[in-house]
Amino acid sequence: MVSVTVFKDMIKSPETDLSKICERAMDIGMELDLSDCPYGETTGPCSFIKRPTSYYFFLAGFVSLLRLKSILEIGTNYGGSIMAISKGLHPDDIKESRLVTIDIIRKNEEGFKGYPHIRRIEGDSLDGEVARRVINSFDKEVDLIYLDAVHEYEHTKRNLDIYADKLNPRYVVLDDIRQCDEMRRLWGELKCEFGDRAFDASDITIRKGAGFGVIKRK
Ligand SMILES: C[S@@+](CC[C@H](N)C(=O)[O-])C[C@H]1O[C@@H](n2cnc3c(N)ncnc32)[C@H](O)[C@@H]1O
Repeated sequence: MVSVTVFKDMIKSPETDLSKICERAMDIGMELDLSDCPYGETTGPCSFIKRPTSYYFFLAGFVSLLRLKSILEIGTNYGGSIMAISKGLHPDDIKESRLVTIDIIRKNEEGFKGYPHIRRIEGDSLDGEVARRVINSFDKEVDLIYLDAVHEYEHTKRNLDIYADKLNPRYVVLDDIRQCDEMRRLWGELKCEFGDRAFDASDITIRKGAGFGVIKRK
């Protein structure tokens, strides 16, 4: 029989904590109305998705559960994910929140009108001048970096090196960690580096094929 002490220790392990946080985040997110957060244009067989995707509910719930306010997204596309993140903000935090998103192209001007507190930066996230602008948008360490741009090893790793080093986020979330060998390799390295603090949340976020990873950095 597992003793009470051992059970308590199991609950306290970072992996158990993180999996519980992720499960709870998804539950909270599913209660939120994200109907005005469409995915938008895609390169897949369906050229435009009018509804939010499954991980938007997770992102919104994660922000709400942990009461995060200072967030950087790399890879805006149509804005659905950063809008979902915004929906997770506590109403008292919206004014002092700092939500920044970068993309090489600007889309959905109309949709963003409803989110004046989201700062959009247009440019290549790996460009030095753009990185300086992004980093200078924050006056303190950030709560979360959500990485969702080019799902290749070098690109994602360089984004991590630039932004996680400078902004020292509490959490990093990566989309598409199972999408290809390069992303699986990167996730494997991050697992080695962070151990139980790197959690594969693909099942919880209903992203079994493409994958979805959550890292608690501190
Ligand atoms: C998968 S989409 C982002 C989806 C969005 N986060 C969502 O979930 O709704 C990837 C985006 O990354 C952008 N991107 C690609 N390379 C980039 C770069 N070097 N710097 C900034 N954005 C980039 C693309 O233009 C594209 O819009």
